[in-house]
Amino acid sequence: MRAPRTRRKPGHAAVPPTLSVRLLGHVALDMKPDGMIGARVGDQTVPLGRFGAPAATCARSLSAGIAWGSVQAGTQDADTELQVLVRRLAMHGLLEYHLSHPATGAAMVVIEPQTPDYVPRTPLLGEDDAVCLSRFAFLRRRGAHMVLESPRSRAVLQLCDTAIAGFLAGLSTPQKLSTLRGQTGFPGDELIALLIDSEIVFSQKSARAGNSRLAEGDQAFALWDFHDLLFHTRSTQGRHANPSGGLYPYVGVIPPLPAVRPSWPGKKIDLHEVAGAAPHDNAPIGKLLRDRHSLRVYDNEHPITLVELAHFLGSAARVQSRWTSEVEPGDADGAVDYAARPYPSGGGCWELELYLAVDRCDGLPRGFYHYDAGDHALVPIAAREDQLDAMLGGAQYAMGAPASPQVLVTIAARFGRISWKYSSFAYSLVLKDAGVLIQTLYLVATGMGLGGCAVGSSNIELFAKMTGLDFHVEGPVGVFALGRGPDHSG
Ligand SMILES: Cc1cc2nc3c(=O)[nH]c(=O)nc-3n(C[C@H](O)[C@H](O)[C@H](O)COP(=O)(O)O)c2cc1C
Repeated sequence: MRAPRTRRKPGHAAVPPTLSVRLLGHVALDMKPDGMIGARVGDQTVPLGRFGAPAATCARSLSAGIAWGSVQAGTQDADTELQVLVRRLAMHGLLEYHLSHPATGAAMVVIEPQTPDYVPRTPLLGEDDAVCLSRFAFLRRRGAHMVLESPRSRAVLQLCDTAIAGFLAGLSTPQKLSTLRGQTGFPGDELIALLIDSEIVFSQKSARAGNSRLAEGDQAFALWDFHDLLFHTRSTQGRHANPSGGLYPYVGVIPPLPAVRPSWPGKKIDLHEVAGAAPHDNAPIGKLLRDRHSLRVYDNEHPITLVELAHFLGSAARVQSRWTSEVEPGDADGAVDYAARPYPSGGGCWELELYLAVDRCDGLPRGFYHYDAGDHALVPIAAREDQLDAMLGGAQYAMGAPASPQVLVTIAARFGRISWKYSSFAYSLVLKDAGVLIQTLYLVATGMGLGGCAVGSSNIELFAKMTGLDFHVEGPVGVFALGRGPDHSG
């Protein structure tokens, strides 16, 4: 017979901790007499819409916190208008959630959502389930707080009760819930459920399943090293709420480094004297390198054509040859297929794929496509129009350009292709490969009389939504805007 799934053993700790939703400390609600509500952050106000009096009355309590159970979608007595207001605040990243001690009201943890669609959930726990800390979870100091994080998680948890850190340390090996519940200092099923929901802790049917990489239940995660997944999720957009981009945070605090490194002491060997004019200055590669520059403004009267796009992709990224090789000679299990493309690639893995967000291309409908490098073909992907706009708009913003690029190339990595082989530096190889490919795209575009610009930011959540691919299986590691420049006729 299956063990009953219960939230709490009868007789166990009488009053559970309470979960509340509240406005971030620096946010205030601006309520107009006509029912319009806005969220004030510094001197900016984010409009949230018009709401009736009952929702507005409840909203006044959001600074102090409202019981999450009374606002959650699906709750019978929740005011639907209040739900809408809370959802809009969440979409703008203006909410946090407190799990508080029932007796004192003091926060045990503060949950900081990292994605707009995060909502705290408390899945029911099986009486016989075991729980174990994810190997991706980590605890660190951030300012004056201790925060519990994981690159798998859509939330960061501030630990306000330091005893929880000690409890978590005990979860380095799987522990049966029934055993944990009997321990002093057990923080309650609610916290465990929130940690499972946040993928900081994982549950398994038996403690004997162990804490190996595969025990977390997803082969694609098993292939990731801890530091690589953290680097990927924190150096892209979409899965964290940290400030990112060219924010110049140290202006006036730390002087900038000089553009050219100060010379080492010692006698210089002047290379001008040794070599004179470089013999390759007049070679095609010399001209291509001199002509290459970043182009952010395009001639939308004469957009790139499908024929040009086909030549561009064929020259830069088409599979040129294939072969199979065995890791150990004679070991068929270790046989790996290879497919060489025109650019070099760490370990010959060629893990990079090209996805095209097409805004304007003569002969090709606006849309999202995968470049099938093996068949030299474009395959449409049914992404939503607003997602396509968001992807193109993000690149336009990053380039400070007046319009979207004609074609936006997202370089996505099939991470497992490289991490199956390399430990410790798999992700760094992926980024190096992306750099090599970006320069290849620049040079091919320049050679064809087209123009382009690398874009440093990409949104891995948006890409996951557009493709339906999990962020840790295949995702963006580079972006390149492409089009025809305004002075192409000359
Ligand atoms: C990895 C990488 C990321 C870049 N990201 C951006 C970007 O987000 N926005 C932008 O306008 N230019 C971006 N650029 C282009 C650089 O600003 C440009 O290469 C640099 O200013 C030198 O100019 P040039 O390419 O015309 O020689 C990027 C370039 C590289 C290589």
